[in-house]
Amino acid sequence: MSNSSKVSLDRVAKICGLSEVERSYRLKYFQVDLCNAAELRLVFENSPPFEACIHFAGLKAVGESSKIPLRYYENNIGGTFNLLHLLEEFKCMNMIFSSSATVYGEVDVSQMPITEDTQVGVGITNPYGRTKYMLEEILRDVQKATPRMNVALLRYFNPVGAHPSGEIGEDPNGPPNNLMPYVSQVAVGRREFLTIFGDDYDTHDGTGVRDYLHVMDLARGHVSAIDYLHKKSTQDKSQQGGTYVLNLGTGKGYSVLDMVKAMEKACGHKIPYKFGPRRGGDITILYADPSLAKKELGWEANSTLDDMCRDLWCWQQKNPNGFAK
Ligand code: WQD
Repeated sequence: MSNSSKVSLDRVAKICGLSEVERSYRLKYFQVDLCNAAELRLVFENSPPFEACIHFAGLKAVGESSKIPLRYYENNIGGTFNLLHLLEEFKCMNMIFSSSATVYGEVDVSQMPITEDTQVGVGITNPYGRTKYMLEEILRDVQKATPRMNVALLRYFNPVGAHPSGEIGEDPNGPPNNLMPYVSQVAVGRREFLTIFGDDYDTHDGTGVRDYLHVMDLARGHVSAIDYLHKKSTQDKSQQGGTYVLNLGTGKGYSVLDMVKAMEKACGHKIPYKFGPRRGGDITILYADPSLAKKELGWEANSTLDDMCRDLWCWQQKNPNGFAK
């Protein structure tokens, strides 16, 4: 809960229509710091054997990571070490890791759309991004040493939006680092205006271009990845595991101004913004070639920009202050 709220669990139970009894086994929750190996062990000792692990836990603010790098390395990498030791001890052989397109580092427009075999680890501009790259390499090595293990490295592009019910959505602590939570807080009147970081990029309108995907498409991508690893671990008689790297993106790029316009359409009013200087570490353009995830997982993002903005606006309107009362 360092950057989230337990209220979200109540909302998940509501969305799924779980009774208190069903919740006790279908939405079992342990509040544990991954950096506390003893506490984490209790989760494994007090649960039936895990078939798979989806590892989302990590600090993720790009700017903050440059200010407190040791905290980021300790938390993101140290926490994963604790988790990996226990997964191995308790024989959980399927691991999905929340990686990020940031591992591609400095990429040129000529390299778009980005495929999974693009060079990684070079030109990453912040400790947060380096923890993602290092953890990909660590997981590859652990999998090689544990041949039965299956690891999926899911490289997220730019997740945005919210559950269509408006019950759960993004609620970052403090001023949002990312574009769309900031835009939606301006739209709902919680912040005065958006600062657009740079209007002189070599793009159709001078503002940065990214591959924004609906968070619900991203969630489905995880379900598809779990099914994929389950199939690998049960149908492959050789019991030979592997590491599978997959881009989760739409394959389309939108600029900051495109996103502001789409959100104005969703909320029905203007969203004030001003142009400011470029943000250090930002690249001009980044969008995915998502064909490998389609081929291997049978997954593709199918929500439109309007879907993303409609669902984001629904969440923000129903929860102007996020999960806080
Ligand atoms: C998107 C665009 C900004 C805020 C990062 C991480 C990535 C992933 C998502 C962490 C850029 C512009 C933004 C603002 C702006 N993981 N912008 N004003 O930088 O593509 O990716 O976050 O969550 O690993 O690297 O996402 O949303 O910060 O920026 O103009 O107030 O919006 O310049 O062009 P980014 P972002």
